[in-house]
Amino acid sequence: MVKVIVATGDPGSTRKWCEVMRRGLPEFEVVAWDAGAEASGARYAVVWMPPDALFRRETGLQAVFNLGAGVDHLMGLPSLPDIPVLRLEDAGMAAQMAEYVIHSLAALSRGFDAYALQQARRRWAPLPVMRHADWPVGVMGLGKLGAHVARAVSGLGYPVAGWARGPRRIEGVRAFHGAEQLQDFLGHTRVLVNLLPLTPQTTGIIDRGLLAGLLPDAVVINIARGGHVVDEDLLAALDAGRVQTAVLDVFNEEPLPSGHPYWSHPRVRITPHVAATTLETHAVEQIGERIRRLERGEPVEGVVGRDTGY
Ligand code: NAP
Ligand code: GLV
Repeated sequence: MVKVIVATGDPGSTRKWCEVMRRGLPEFEVVAWDAGAEASGARYAVVWMPPDALFRRETGLQAVFNLGAGVDHLMGLPSLPDIPVLRLEDAGMAAQMAEYVIHSLAALSRGFDAYALQQARRRWAPLPVMRHADWPVGVMGLGKLGAHVARAVSGLGYPVAGWARGPRRIEGVRAFHGAEQLQDFLGHTRVLVNLLPLTPQTTGIIDRGLLAGLLPDAVVINIARGGHVVDEDLLAALDAGRVQTAVLDVFNEEPLPSGHPYWSHPRVRITPHVAATTLETHAVEQIGERIRRLERGEPVEGVVGRDTGY
């Protein structure tokens, strides 16, 4: 029987994922990581922020499955062996991302935030009708999640630009790529949606220079990783009115420390890294199917590039 070891940074979560996998994939033997135990001899590891010790002990692993879309925590582990690392692709997260972005965008563009303030004052005062053309959206990262968000927002009538590493063609989206087209992309963007992976090339990308390139009265929606943002630069842009609102789901330090200036900033909206959560059924189905394919010697999708880091 093929053996799979589950290792997350938290024993409760490891137990939960073991149960979910045993229920969904009864043909595999699923064991939980236990720091004090002997090597289990597992062929596959299913992980989320695992301890580095996992890879020093489990030397028979053939592949590692990440229980999320982003692999930045995993790729930096010193003992990660040179075997395929697979990440979740969409697995129900793209729809959640589109909901998050549409909710945040409409709260501002349709004035729903302003109407909530009016209600508190018992005030009845329709705002001028909004024009989509006044709210051009730019999506950084046109992968599994970013491309879906770009299509969804374009479908509502907003002008949408997108930026990726290489050329992309997405109907209804004006696509830019590479460092040389970044300024052009920013010049078409008032509402910046970040869905890049965190890699050495994208760390700190949302800095003073990038924010200065956005259209006036900008909005920043960061739903990728906190490490993409230079916090002092974003706070300075908010205070200067360069950025009117920041909607932040992810932070350089999580949980966001209670003394952080974002908490009390009047134009920052915070959610606790929930823009898209891993859905058990989707994740187990995708991982199970990929293990079966690997066992049959067939190619699999979702393998992370060691050179690109995503
Ligand atoms: P993906 O499919 O790997 O897509 C990544 C996109 O970023 C691709 O379009 C890629 O360009 C582009 N890219 C990468 N490096 C770049 C660079 N240096 N310059 C320009 N573009 C670059 O990733 P995904 O599945 O959409 O996920 C994106 C990220 O969302 C994850 O890495 C994770 O950090 C984050 N996430 C957050 C949450 C949350 O709850 N907040 C949940 C899930 C995921 P190419 O198309 O040219 O390769
Ligand atoms: C969550 O942040 C993920 O990368 O799936």
